[in-house]
Amino acid sequence: MKVLVVGSGGREHALCWKLAASPVRPTVFCAPGNAGIATLATCVPIKADDVPALVDYAVATAVDLVVVGPEAPLVAGLVDRLQAAGLKAFGPSAAAARLEGSKGFMKDLCARHGIPTAPYGRFHDAAQARAFVRTQGAPIVVKADGLAAGKGVTVALTVDEALAAVDDVLVAGRFGAAGAEVVIEAFLAGEEASFFALVDGETALPLVAAQDHKRAFDGDSGPNTGGMGAYSPAPVMTPELTARVMAEIIRPTVRAMAAEGTPFKGVLFAGLMIVADPGDSGPALPKPDLPKPYLLEYNVRFGDPECQVLMKRLRSDLLPALEAVHEGRLGEISLDWHDDAALCVVLAAAGYPGEIITGSEIRDLEAAGAVPGVTVFHAATQRDGEGRVLAVGGRVLGVTAGGATVAEARGRAYLAVDRIDWPEGFCRRDIGWRAV
Ligand code: AMP
Ligand code: GLY
Repeated sequence: MKVLVVGSGGREHALCWKLAASPVRPTVFCAPGNAGIATLATCVPIKADDVPALVDYAVATAVDLVVVGPEAPLVAGLVDRLQAAGLKAFGPSAAAARLEGSKGFMKDLCARHGIPTAPYGRFHDAAQARAFVRTQGAPIVVKADGLAAGKGVTVALTVDEALAAVDDVLVAGRFGAAGAEVVIEAFLAGEEASFFALVDGETALPLVAAQDHKRAFDGDSGPNTGGMGAYSPAPVMTPELTARVMAEIIRPTVRAMAAEGTPFKGVLFAGLMIVADPGDSGPALPKPDLPKPYLLEYNVRFGDPECQVLMKRLRSDLLPALEAVHEGRLGEISLDWHDDAALCVVLAAAGYPGEIITGSEIRDLEAAGAVPGVTVFHAATQRDGEGRVLAVGGRVLGVTAGGATVAEARGRAYLAVDRIDWPEGFCRRDIGWRAV
């Protein structure tokens, strides 16, 4: 069996690692991959957003399953094109990927179907958006409608900050077409969690939950990033809350997408805010039964670095589950998980998420990977002609450890981090603080 994974990050390394370990013994290809992925898959030099080249390659290679990692090719219709060419693919159609590709689409769907999310308005016109901000007051959240690589959200603590964000998106055009519209929504206070479910169009199968750390620096300070670390399980996601998220958010979304003629297939990643005290969020919210989960956003793919800890904890074979999603047979699948916790520490290039310098050498990765329970996932690495591993992007490595508890996993992960010789990199030292 031939499997092609699309993408080049830590998420894709974790997916390739898990798929390569399948008892089915598939041949794994990855486009474009990275230096870590190259140790267990054949890397193909096609960019993850080059839809025509990916389709041509998958057809020519007679790939049995394509697993799409990142959101951009999903929103651009890669899965539709693969299916039109007669291939099997894991991931949503372009129409279903609008759950991530347009925040306004997602909010309207929630409104039509009674799915709990922050009250909001949608605006193309800057004057109307500014007036809405002034009547609502702060704190308030301003979001570019389209894909903005995690940079399109401003949590504004003052009205002035929100007005500046509106101008940035609608007037200055900072996000181009992705910012032709803004969603402005009420600020929710609580604890965030990353919730995942496989969905085959009708049936949803929850995976374990995780928490990530979006801010660049210790103490959840500094600018927003793609994620500086993650751990699972997430103590906030009790079994009761998991059942509520499935009943109040995930299943209604799956039914709504099917009813509207755009069934969702793939992995649905709900960014949740668990609101414990509605007083924290001001009068914008009704007084719910607490703690209540609210949907902040949908992603239509695995999280990065959440995927790294999920794959570390997954005991079952991933491959049949992904095939079952494509074939609408998810009801036949059950997944086993290790009781062990997992924790991932991201090493990023100095300067990330701002300006970075690429091309620095990383040493002693083998020593790090030799720490018991540790897997070093690569995110942005490349091997040079002499076999050295070079950093070629912002988030570069995801040092991921298992352990009996989050605390044990964290101890192992930092032991491995400290063996890596990469002066040009940095990481947070407090990943998992809520759980430890
Ligand atoms: P996103 O890029 O959509 O994941 O949003 C980035 C971050 O903004 C989220 O992880 C939250 O921390 C924060 N955020 C988004 N929406 C809200 C909201 N309505 N209330 C409070 N924080 C929010
Ligand atoms: N870590 C958050 C994301 O993948 O969007």
